[in-house]
Amino acid sequence: MDSNEVQDNQLMIGGILATDLAAQYGTALQVYDISKVRSQIHAFQRVFRENDIDYAVSYASKAFACIAMYQVLAQENAHADVVSGGELYTAIKAGFPMDHISFHGNNKSREELEMAVDNHVGVIILDNFYEIQLLSEVLATKNETIDVMLRVSPAVSAHTHEFIQTGQQDSKFGFDILTGQADEVLQQVLKEPNMNLVGVHSHIGSQIFETDGFKIETEKLVKLMQHWNDDFGYMPSIINVGGGFGIKYTDADHPIRPEDFVQQILTTLRHETESRNLPLPAVWIEPGRSIAGPAGTTLYTAGSSKDIPEIRKYVAVDGGMGDNIRPALYGADYDAVVANDVHDDNVELVTIAGKYCESGDILIKDIELPVLHPGDVIAVLATGAYGYSMASNYNLNPRPAVVFVENGKSQIAIERETYADLIHLDKKLDI
Ligand code: LLP
Repeated sequence: MDSNEVQDNQLMIGGILATDLAAQYGTALQVYDISKVRSQIHAFQRVFRENDIDYAVSYASKAFACIAMYQVLAQENAHADVVSGGELYTAIKAGFPMDHISFHGNNKSREELEMAVDNHVGVIILDNFYEIQLLSEVLATKNETIDVMLRVSPAVSAHTHEFIQTGQQDSKFGFDILTGQADEVLQQVLKEPNMNLVGVHSHIGSQIFETDGFKIETEKLVKLMQHWNDDFGYMPSIINVGGGFGIKYTDADHPIRPEDFVQQILTTLRHETESRNLPLPAVWIEPGRSIAGPAGTTLYTAGSSKDIPEIRKYVAVDGGMGDNIRPALYGADYDAVVANDVHDDNVELVTIAGKYCESGDILIKDIELPVLHPGDVIAVLATGAYGYSMASNYNLNPRPAVVFVENGKSQIAIERETYADLIHLDKKLDI
């Protein structure tokens, strides 16, 4: 627990007692300390300014998006990448500036592309040949033009969980560099009358701790720039290096600061472009986890427990894999505190179980916590990325409420789902 405040042994989030938030809004509750979102965006922006490099800090919506989040991002002059019509729709409804949107995805539908074109999004990041054909038709029909980038797969295997690696050669995303696909698509897109090619994109994975992958990625992108310039007379004005900067979940994690990854990328870029006598492109980044993750805390109420002598003590909470699938899906580890009793000498080893009907629904296996009693509020830390955004209604449990806090003030960002919400699309059969 690094940066949460503790007062009189009670956890505070954004200047408010966590237990007060739990009492006011109920649990399970997803809380965001918005000042942390803002300060991480500022830290990224500062690195670019210090290096005097044109930039965009484009938040990866998939980590967590809602209208309130897009409002905060817009205030901080961040861009946002969206990967679906749903994320785009939410950004539109939030009044987010469409010229700051990048549209990603490996199978965008014609309807999604039409929506992007109609709303004049800033850039569409092209992922495959089929999409180019679809977009070309959409643009011709509507007599519109749009900025595009090419997503290449740079064949860098970042050291992270296999499911969240994306830049290796055998990947479903982007155009392959090694087999010449990237050159082929470049030539094709340069001929497209309604597409304006502004740059190249790659993303090597998520929750990455080592800087090496980003260094190699940057080197490869600069090499590609040179090759495209020499052989096709095309010089990208933007390189988008994706996201993936790892964060600390538990004391076992020792990542460098997210902005330090960016510094490493910029140092490599300056060196590589200078030594090849190439102009310095603008650099875009797409961090999701590092902006949303540390800002989020999930509050649960402790309920039943089961003690199997000599084996394990389980304490169950009023949430679990429906609001945070990451432990079950990736074996992800989290840290937690008891919000109403942060530091206590009377500790025991417990396993925090969810309430879902699945044995794998364990939020934290074997954590030392003050002895828990029913009604205690357990705060699982750094849950802001890929928690609520991957939430489900498994077992027909409503999804939690989301609250934004800042400077002692809390506001609901997403209401708690009701039972009525759960069935609002259901239809009774005529039988
Ligand atoms: N840009 C692209 C093209 C991406 O595919 C991703 C993440 C990002 C940016 C943001 O990466 P970040 O900075 O958040 O690491 N559900 C998984 C993570 C999947 C990441 C997918 N792509 C998890 O819970 O760990």
